[in-house]
Order: sequence, then structure tokens, then C-alpha cells
Amino acid sequence: MDYNFDERIDRRGTNSVKYDLCRTLFGTDDIIPMWVADMDFRTPDFIIESLGKRCEHPVFGYTILPSSLLDAFCAWTQKRYSWEVHPSDVDFVPGIVTGINLAIQTFTKPGDKIIVQPPVYPPFFNAPKMNGRHVVWNSLKEVDGRFEMDFDALEKQIDNRTTMLILSNPHNPGGRVWSRETLQKLASLCYQKGVLIVSDEIHADMTYNTATHVPFSTVSGEAACNSIVFMSPSKAFNIPGIIGSFIVAPDKNLYRRFHNTLMQLDLHGNLFAYEAMQAAYHDGEEWLNQMIAYIQSNAGMVVSYFTKELPAVKAMMPESSFLVWIDFSELNLSDQALKQLLVEKAGIGLNEGISFGPGGAGHQRMNIGTPRSIVSEALQRISHAVKEG
Ligand SMILES: Cc1ncc(COP(=O)(O)O)c(C=O)c1O
Repeated sequence: MDYNFDERIDRRGTNSVKYDLCRTLFGTDDIIPMWVADMDFRTPDFIIESLGKRCEHPVFGYTILPSSLLDAFCAWTQKRYSWEVHPSDVDFVPGIVTGINLAIQTFTKPGDKIIVQPPVYPPFFNAPKMNGRHVVWNSLKEVDGRFEMDFDALEKQIDNRTTMLILSNPHNPGGRVWSRETLQKLASLCYQKGVLIVSDEIHADMTYNTATHVPFSTVSGEAACNSIVFMSPSKAFNIPGIIGSFIVAPDKNLYRRFHNTLMQLDLHGNLFAYEAMQAAYHDGEEWLNQMIAYIQSNAGMVVSYFTKELPAVKAMMPESSFLVWIDFSELNLSDQALKQLLVEKAGIGLNEGISFGPGGAGHQRMNIGTPRSIVSEALQRISHAVKEG
């Protein structure tokens, strides 16, 4: 069956972060919001039906994490990544940002140093700060329009107070899918230096056909015993409001310590999350493949539009997900003036590059998980606003 991603759905008035916070954040409701990372596509019917079916039973009591959900997740990782995950290495975690905070509390001490590679998803550096840890910036390099890790700088940054590195695999912003070689190099360096890797793989399921996602802990024995991985169907199936993700910790000691933290806080999932996640992993493959093809085409359209129509603005072609990193620096505007141009002249709400840490100035992140007609309208509005000044 062909799924329809062109449908425009009015999300205003649903307490949507993306739509119902526009006035607060951009000072107006009269914009196309292309910022926070959820999509405007209809949640797939097999998920809606699974929730409806559960609602037919009138009691919503305490619910166990179904072993069928863990089995569906493990079958998914096997099929999509040839990754054999054992259910005993997996725990439910409400959200991945929650998981990152718990990992910091579990595996590091106040005053420790935690490495992040900006420009990067802001909770990666806010979580260490909020937990009283120091942030070490190991900035990504941009080489031929692609992000690369700076291993020379990384090695110099690590000292005996550096205990964790938080990895976005694939990378947000920009959708860079890290190669096996890069991940092996990272695993080896961090293992030697005693730096635990927290690999956030929330965007993995949306990897385009131009790249291959490699789960971090599979790249070597050093990675398997020195990392934890977070995964979730929330982004790929557009259910982030349902709140549900997994930690995979193949190392028994790391698993036990993280599990203990979850137990202390009595953190588990809710019955609707279990239903939705299971439906996603069980029935979601065809829908997801079509959705990826759709956003991949949206991304191609954005990149070629700027190349042809507005060459001073450069969009990085993602290899995964729906978050395009756009470089406006040739316009020589301050970040404030750039935001003003986009909001007031173009009527578009993007994420400001400066919110992603060092390397973000002059950039904006555009969410293209929306019907193509909206992306197209946004591009024309930006082009018009820039040309008019
Ligand atoms: C890299 C990354 N991790 C985590 C999240 C959010 O995860 P959660 O909603 O499960 O906390 C996002 C959302 O944009 C993200 O881009």
C-alpha cells in the first residue's frame, strides 16, 4: 500500500510544542514552524489501531513490560542492523534525554568532565551542566560539506577527570551517519582512556539508502564493554508524545548499574507506550521505508533548491532523519538579524544554530518532516526574504 505523506494536518490547539508555542518563542503564530523534532505526518494506522484496541478494555491498571515488546525490538535490531540484542540486556527508559541524565548520574561523579561534539542537540551539554559536571567541547570539523570527528583534538582533551562522551549516532543536527571505521576509532580511544560512551541512536531508524547505520556497541569488543546505547521508535514513527525508549547495555556490569538507577527511581513505562512501540516494531517496516524515501526526497529538494536559487545559503545533505543543517553565514548577518529575517520577513520558525553550541553561529536547523508542499513554500519564502533583504 502507498502511504500518503502529502496530507496537511492542522495540529494547532493540540498542545503541540511545535505549533502551540510559536507565539511564545517567535512572537507570532503566523509562521510555518519547522523547528522542534517531531513530524507533521499522521501517526501510522497500525499504531493508532493498537492504542484503540487497548482502549476497548476498560481497566488501565499497573502493567508489566511485555516480553513480546522486547522480542519485537530484538527482532527489529536483528533485521535492520544485523544486531543480535538479548532481551536481558535491554531496559525500558521513558525518554532518551531522561536516559542520558540517568547515565550521567549513574556512571560519573560531580566535577567529572563529559565530552560532547558540537554543534549538537542541546540536552547533550545541558544535561552534564545541570548535573554539576563540566562540559568538554570537541567540535566537529566540516570537511567537503560533511561533519567529521576531530580525533587529534579529542585525544588532547581527555584527562583523568574525563569519564564520559555523549555521541549522537547519527548526528543531530545534520544527519551524519558515522561510519564503522570512525566508530571503531572512537571506541578504541575511549576504551584506552577509560571514557564511557553513551550512544544516542534515536535517529538511526531513519537512515537513508545512501548510508548504513552501525549500532555503536557492535563495532568492537572495546565498544561492547564500554558503551550503552539508547534507541526508540519515537522519532521514526512520529510518536514522541507517547514517551518510550530503550537502553541496550551488552556489558553486564554497566547494565546492572543502570538498572539499579531505574529501580531506585521506580521508573517504568506506561501501557500505551508499550502498545505503540510494539506495533511500530512489529508492523512498521513498510511504512517506515516509504517515510524515509519521502524525507530523503524532501532533503534532496532543499539542498538543490539552495544550490540553484540561493547559492549563498548552503544546506548539508543529511544521511538520516529530517533535520537539515543550513549555513547562512555568507549573508553576514548577526544571529539576531538572521532570526528576524526568517521570522519577520520569511514567516518561518527554525531552530537557531547558536542553540547547538560552538559552531552553530550563522546556521539554522530546518525540520523537513512535513508535507513537501510546505517545505517548498518555506524555501520560496526564505529565498524571497533573502533577496528582498
Ligand atoms: C539526538 C536526540 N536525542 C534525543 C532526543 C529526544 O529524545 P526523548 O524525547 O526520548 O527524550 C532528540 C529529539 O530531538 C534528539 O534529536
